[in-house]
Amino acid sequence: MSNYHIKHLEEYYQVYRKSVREPENFWQEIAEEHFVWYKKWDNVLSWDFAKPEVKWFEGAKLNITVNCIDRHLIANGDKTAILFEPNDPKAKAEHITYRQLHQRVCQFANVLKSKGIAKGDRVCIYLPMIPELAIATLACARIGAIHSVVFAGFSSTALATRINDSDCKMVITSDGSYRGAKTIDLKGIVDDALEDCPCVETVLVAKRIQSDISMKEGRDEWLQPLLDNADNNCKPEVMSAEDPLFILYTSGSTGMPKGMVHSTAGYMVYTAYTFKNVFQYKENDIYWCTADIGWITGHSYIVYGPLANGATTVMFEGVPSYPDFGRFWEIVEKHKINQFYTAPTAIRALAKEGLELVDKYDLSSLKVLGSVGEPINEEAWHWYNDNIGKKQSPIVDTWWQTETGGIMITPIPFATPTKPTYATLPFPGIQPALMDEDGKELKENQVSGRLCIKFPWPSMARTIWGNHQRYKDTYFSAFENKYFTGDGALRDEVGYYRITGRVDDVIIVSGHNLGTAPIEDAVNEHPAVAESAIVGFPHDIKGNALYGYVILKEVGETRDHNNLRKEINQIITEHVGPIAKLDKIQFTKGLPKTRSGKIMRRILRKIACNETSNLGDTSTLLNPEVVQDIMDNAL
Ligand code: PRX
Repeated sequence: MSNYHIKHLEEYYQVYRKSVREPENFWQEIAEEHFVWYKKWDNVLSWDFAKPEVKWFEGAKLNITVNCIDRHLIANGDKTAILFEPNDPKAKAEHITYRQLHQRVCQFANVLKSKGIAKGDRVCIYLPMIPELAIATLACARIGAIHSVVFAGFSSTALATRINDSDCKMVITSDGSYRGAKTIDLKGIVDDALEDCPCVETVLVAKRIQSDISMKEGRDEWLQPLLDNADNNCKPEVMSAEDPLFILYTSGSTGMPKGMVHSTAGYMVYTAYTFKNVFQYKENDIYWCTADIGWITGHSYIVYGPLANGATTVMFEGVPSYPDFGRFWEIVEKHKINQFYTAPTAIRALAKEGLELVDKYDLSSLKVLGSVGEPINEEAWHWYNDNIGKKQSPIVDTWWQTETGGIMITPIPFATPTKPTYATLPFPGIQPALMDEDGKELKENQVSGRLCIKFPWPSMARTIWGNHQRYKDTYFSAFENKYFTGDGALRDEVGYYRITGRVDDVIIVSGHNLGTAPIEDAVNEHPAVAESAIVGFPHDIKGNALYGYVILKEVGETRDHNNLRKEINQIITEHVGPIAKLDKIQFTKGLPKTRSGKIMRRILRKIACNETSNLGDTSTLLNPEVVQDIMDNAL
């Protein structure tokens, strides 16, 4: 069908116009022609952003794993579905065909059932990037259990918070994981977390690093023997369109992460359709997204989107720097990667290493390059374009969020002319709006404002697990009848969008979305700390790094400050994870506060960024005198 695969700019505009004029027809045609349903929908869309409530394909019945696996078996059973590239470059890559994937997902699903997991139960998956991670998520979807994948770099406290918030009955983990030359004791982290998680009945443990771990009697079981004994057929659960498929946590402006809930049918249709177009995936292409399945990018564009299109999707266990900074390019050459999707922070780190490690490898298989997770700066864009794409492979700078489920603003390769640092045009079905601070929509071009979306799209998160009010307050209250993204953006003279960054208390560090509140909560746990405030400042490789302002209690005053800094970062590592460590910690006597007691982060941000010539209005502060003191001692 023509709508499904956009090939040139006029076609994009045509499809886009249709998607806005007749959204229901538009999505209905795509859903009808490209997916397998047990029963079609009664109603394509109903929505009310005031409640907020959004339903797509209501009345339809389906199973997403049938769309991602079973339906490919007849024509493509022997095609590689998942190509697993291990951490160790000398270890053999594993090709898992669609037929094998079907068997392994069914076996895993039967194991889940045998352990009492049923439709609607929550299962926490805390695994490294090994095939079991993709298989476990699909096994949950097979039986209608709701998976909650937690990135395996999160600490035990962060893991426990997420397990308890969604009341998970089971945790799936491994004895440990490889990360470059290091190993990580994942099972130990799970054991620590579970001290505080009474809801968990069973822990299934995959063997990866063959380490000696302790298994708790009655709770922990090795996965492999269970799989070996499980039947390799498992009837898919018949799911309703709006049944939750998964929960994925993202940072928010309070200490509690937000469990974004994604539905089944809309998520499937949107991730599949975007995957096909944004990467221009063609039969027999080899597609590689370097993200971790612990993030939304991995859910949508390693697992569900590619598999729904019968694609070959690469899963990489390792890191870009091991055994050296040529690893990504070695893999591109080895597997003849056609589409390569990564984050600006990785591009910046690799660009620093010089071109010898790029030029050693044959990258001529590449057709499309992708970028995601944070704004890509001009220098990184050109390095990527010149040295990796050799100016032949368009860069798709894809803007989206955990909450949006799929790519929202992006070029369509070979159709949309690219422009460095611009995510360019809205994907069909997406209706962006830029708002001024008074809540008025800016209709003209060449404006900047707060980025909202004014019409529902199929893969939008439906709620925050257990807290619909927070969902409403966070996304639908800032601007009437619009979804507010939390990002600022500008629109140029031809209507291209450039995302300028967060306008709230979320900071993106190395492409990871970090809320300041949970990090501040962790810092405040230190016995010598009275109060803290964290802001971001620009960093060459990470995009942003974290700057902490810390007020010490009397007991802290006499302590060695460098030791205190180490201890504070240690606490952050334990409570949030190593990605949230502070690059700079300034001890201060006070923090600038408004009369209502709110910390004026704007001022702290400017000082951290060394932009002190214009601090703006400080007259409303309760304690304006601290500002000079903070500036004098800035790091
Ligand atoms: O600020 C935007 C930034 O990442 C945020 C979403 O983070 P997360 O939910 O972790 O999802 C990341 C992967 C989809 C956004 O609000 N962001 C994401 N992609 C881009 C981006 N900023 C600029 N350009 C992008 N391409």
